[in-house]
Amino acid sequence: MDRIALRGGKPLFGEIPVSGAKNAALPLMAAAILTDEPLTLLNAPALADVATMGALLGGLGVEVWRDRVVGQLSLRASAIESCVAPYDVVRKMRASILVLGPLLAREHKAQVSLPGGCAIGARPVDLHLKGLEALGAQLDLREGYVFAEAPGGLKGARIVSPVVSVGATENLLMAAVLAKGETVLENAAREPEIVDLAECLRAMGARIEGEGSSTIRIQGVERLRGANHRVLPDRIEMGSYMLAPAVAGGSVEILGARRDLVGALIERMEAAGVSIEDSPRGLRVSRKPGERLRAVDIETAPFPGFPTDLQAQMMALLTMAEGESRIEETIFENRFMHAPELTRMGARIEVHGGSALVKGVERLKGAPVMATDLRASIGLILAGLAAEGETIVSRVYHLDRGYERLEAKLSACGAEIRRLRDQPTTAARAAVA
Ligand code: UD1
Repeated sequence: MDRIALRGGKPLFGEIPVSGAKNAALPLMAAAILTDEPLTLLNAPALADVATMGALLGGLGVEVWRDRVVGQLSLRASAIESCVAPYDVVRKMRASILVLGPLLAREHKAQVSLPGGCAIGARPVDLHLKGLEALGAQLDLREGYVFAEAPGGLKGARIVSPVVSVGATENLLMAAVLAKGETVLENAAREPEIVDLAECLRAMGARIEGEGSSTIRIQGVERLRGANHRVLPDRIEMGSYMLAPAVAGGSVEILGARRDLVGALIERMEAAGVSIEDSPRGLRVSRKPGERLRAVDIETAPFPGFPTDLQAQMMALLTMAEGESRIEETIFENRFMHAPELTRMGARIEVHGGSALVKGVERLKGAPVMATDLRASIGLILAGLAAEGETIVSRVYHLDRGYERLEAKLSACGAEIRRLRDQPTTAARAAVA
């Protein structure tokens, strides 16, 4: 397994471009199932998760190809040859569940493996399933799979979600666009990725209103057509790179960064003492090297609140802020697995259930650490950028799921970061020792 080696303590200067959003691209790819015409996604990131979704769709009979134009991904579901999303793919990526709604909408049947638990908590899919039942699907859970069918097609319904769920909102939106009659999704997620999906579906001929608010209304149509759609910038990648000069010191222009996508992060970073200014091509983030930041409290919440997907990165920053910061994680239980790793780098963090108390230290020290999930991994990379000496982050396959050209983007700003390719175990041990 590859590892990433960093030598920290160097301020960063330059610019970092933001790629298309992983979490927008995955549902958009699943939306290709809804039409027999081509769907072309511009600004699609080249990431392991996008490849996994491509392989899953390929197995259903969807043609998926990258055009010569960088970042352009095309999909065509002329015919659906299989309605099965197998365990081997779903276990790698929870977002595989997003094919369930579109398959039911188009083929009136689907067989999708249940994702099971994952590193950041139980993460059930009950809301997806209950919503689809409300749309008339009959579900049977056996052998680790959900067998779903809707003889005669799905029918519009009013669905009130007890919890705000991004994935369930996306699945139900994609199911409802081809259902008979009106569907109303109440307590829907308001994330920008939902708005992006709704815009793409509308370009395909769907009738949708209210995306971006907590009530989405969908009038089912007979069929959808192909479209070209530009994928939204990745606000989590954007936020992660905004935190890089904040952690390491320096001044970096984040190209394509938008205040409307990262408002809650900007507010907390400014409260901690980081400077964020509008720049010609995005946002410029600066902090004088050596200038101490202030502790701030954060609480994760659905959009427009502070994203859970930026919590680990913000914790990396707060480990070096003056005073005590309290972090409340309200979306996922067990999402502090980066805390003990940061502690190995000299951070002082006490975790009690969904709450972490970070007592700021002057500086972190490099250490070998292990990534446990995608966002924990980038949190450790950020900490390594600031730490004295060498940090080696192992299990970086997590990073490859969500960060395109990570080392290239950071080293262009002066970071000393390199990938150590997979080696025989003894050599790997020696390198880490
Ligand atoms: C998406 C994002 C993920 C992000 C998360 C929260 C993608 C591919 N992933 O994940 O990066 O961290 O939103 O912003 O877009 N829940 C249930 N039952 C369900 C579904 C969810 O109880 O059927 C709970 C979850 O356990 C969690 C909360 O609802 O506590 C929110 O989860 P959800 O918004 O569904 O996250 P994902 O869509 O899986």
